[in-house]
Amino acid sequence: ITVDWDAVTAEKGGYEHFMLKEIHEQPKAYRDTMRGRMNAEGNKVILPELNLTEEQIKNIRNVQIVACGTAYNAGLVGRNLIESLVRIPVENDIASEYRYRSPIVTPETLVIVVSQSGETADTLAALREGQANGAHVLAITNVVGSSIAREANSVLVTLAGPEIAVASTKAYTSQLIAFTLLGLYLAEVRGTQSEPEVAKILAAMQSLPEQVEVILAQKEAIKTYAEQIAKHEHLFFIGRGVDYAVAQEGSLKLKEISYIHSEAYAAGELKHGTLALIEEGVPVIALATQESVLEKTVSNIKEVKARGAHVLAITHEEHANDLLRSVDQVFVIPQTLPLLTSALSVVSLQLLAYYASLALGHDVDKPRNLAKSVTVE
Ligand code: AGP
Repeated sequence: ITVDWDAVTAEKGGYEHFMLKEIHEQPKAYRDTMRGRMNAEGNKVILPELNLTEEQIKNIRNVQIVACGTAYNAGLVGRNLIESLVRIPVENDIASEYRYRSPIVTPETLVIVVSQSGETADTLAALREGQANGAHVLAITNVVGSSIAREANSVLVTLAGPEIAVASTKAYTSQLIAFTLLGLYLAEVRGTQSEPEVAKILAAMQSLPEQVEVILAQKEAIKTYAEQIAKHEHLFFIGRGVDYAVAQEGSLKLKEISYIHSEAYAAGELKHGTLALIEEGVPVIALATQESVLEKTVSNIKEVKARGAHVLAITHEEHANDLLRSVDQVFVIPQTLPLLTSALSVVSLQLLAYYASLALGHDVDKPRNLAKSVTVE
């Protein structure tokens, strides 16, 4: 008798690495995080766990989203969602900076801490800072019994399931789903979105899991591109609006596991300094999913192309042909509402980081110098 598997291999469910398995678990994580959180008619979000009265919600004057790393990056998308849906001013803070800048927090501030593990020391300290100033602190976390979940005033749980790989993937995208539900719920209570608008967004959200599958089915194309960029020492991610937020997550993921240096830039900001780093052959990944700023993004793409950059654009089908006139390659993601594109575009960047790390022979699941949970400040 030969035993050709071990417990760890079995846990990976046939995938070579936990990260790849977790990337593939995202459709399920999206469904699980949405399940039971909308009414049968599909036009209302139900979030009793928020533990906030209608009056408290109506009194919120500002929101502060505080987190570290990938959870911070999810908060950048969260800001975009909440500001668009609810029209409340939102600030993003890196947890290790938050309490040292003496943030202006009042009882009308909603502080949202985001943490996959629920154990990140700086995020926990930020939670305490918010509470000490009288704010309601809502935690978005993946671990129900964690310190952050226990101390927060309310908890919005992401149902991504255990995340083993150090590089966060399904936790990040589940946080995006949680932020969308939260934004819609606050919008309902404050009357900033009509029922048909909410219904339209909820319907589009329900298509996301299948749309992620469409991206996963194209992983070979991403692998080929990843093998090309693995030969480079530096690269850039650019985008505008929510695409810029996703660019920041794509850049972090790539650095974390492939050790290739990269920077994420707001596409319009390049010409204020960073454009000097663009030379012949430098890879630039341009996220171009936002119709409202597409023309502007294309003109920024032309700026880097003119300096010799090799540009890959990530966009929807309808813009692919147009973009092909200005870039070298296009990766097409399925069509969704502008508000929801991050939940799709980021999956291609997770795969890109994964395959670049693999091509370079690194330990994908346990990158050097990093730990899954950072419990020191
Ligand atoms: C993500 O890929 C990183 N490993 C890291 O940035 C992580 O997101 C950060 O340490 C925050 O962790 P948390 O979500 O458990 O608080």
